[in-house]
Amino acid sequence: MRKFNLGTSDLEVSTVGLGCMRMANKSVDEAIAIIQAALDSNINFFDHADIYGDGKSEIIFGEAIKRMKIDRSDIIIQSKCGINKVDGTFDFSKEHILKSVDEILERLQMDYLDVLLLHRPDALVEPEEVAEAFKILKDSGKVKYFGVSNQSSMMIDLLQRSVEDKLIVNQMQFSLMHSPLVDYGMNVNMATNPGIDRSQGMIEYARLNNITIQAWSPFYAGFFEAVFVDNDDYPEVNVALQLLADKYNVSKEAIAVAWIDRHPANIQTIVGSMNPDRIKRISKVSNVSLSRKEWYDLYKAAGNILL
Ligand SMILES: NC(=O)c1ccc[n+]([C@@H]2O[C@H](COP(=O)([O-])OP(=O)(O)OC[C@H]3O[C@@H](n4cnc5c(N)ncnc54)[C@H](OP(=O)(O)O)[C@@H]3O)[C@@H](O)[C@H]2O)c1
Repeated sequence: MRKFNLGTSDLEVSTVGLGCMRMANKSVDEAIAIIQAALDSNINFFDHADIYGDGKSEIIFGEAIKRMKIDRSDIIIQSKCGINKVDGTFDFSKEHILKSVDEILERLQMDYLDVLLLHRPDALVEPEEVAEAFKILKDSGKVKYFGVSNQSSMMIDLLQRSVEDKLIVNQMQFSLMHSPLVDYGMNVNMATNPGIDRSQGMIEYARLNNITIQAWSPFYAGFFEAVFVDNDDYPEVNVALQLLADKYNVSKEAIAVAWIDRHPANIQTIVGSMNPDRIKRISKVSNVSLSRKEWYDLYKAAGNILL
């Protein structure tokens, strides 16, 4: 499994990370098998959020790691906060951030997070407050690095004006069937839907500023509309995936991840499978090196038009 440094940090992460959003309805024994499959596949990165399963995903994961007697320093753990489910708001207030991290660490039974992300942009954000919260978390050793999720480049600039630490991650939805991050770049100045830049040049901004983009829901079309792999509603892209799966002797899932991995921005793919066999199949992405033509063939099979 390819590894690279997350943003400008010293965290050496696997190119595939395991997203634990769907761990809440697994037993601890099942979670142990899932985590073991990830570790056996050289996946060393685990993504959480305080809202996954209303905190249950973190509880199950924490218990599993404890029972597996895994050395904390052998794995990299990220969680997110900023969605306040109690009062139904997005909340980047200092008080909410600090309280959320204490609760996350308690659920995980751990004393630090490698990375904390702000989950969804808070329209009422006060960057100075975020900066104060991050400084307290850093100084107390509770969080090593910080980042964001679903933010535009200007939102990051706004935060970064006050936040001392460099933000190292922006986690965004990105897949073969949901690709606005790259679509606009091939349609600059066109009066078409793909030409709409929804993130203010996030891919280029991330490359210029050494921010790692993490791709969430890599197998989904639309916003949780449908998993496109092995789905008869998406025949063209599945034919193209199968062709390359046969060529590289891997599964279609591995090719779908290889399409993300081929982008030179060093995007980390956060997969959400809770199936140990599928996780092992996905990790075979290491055996794939897509050519430029193969990347574009998949992009076109996903319904995109190149002029
Ligand atoms: N920052 C954000 O706003 C945000 C939003 C959403 C998610 N996330 C993060 O991203 C992670 C991944 O998201 P996700 O779980 O939606 O992504 P995903 O990896 O695209 O989807 C995984 C789901 O698809 C199912 N699936 C069914 N057939 C599949 C196939 N042929 N290939 C692959 N998967 C198949 C999996 O089932 P099996 O379990 O049976 O494999 C699993 O339930 C989450 O766990 C979370 O950590 C972040």
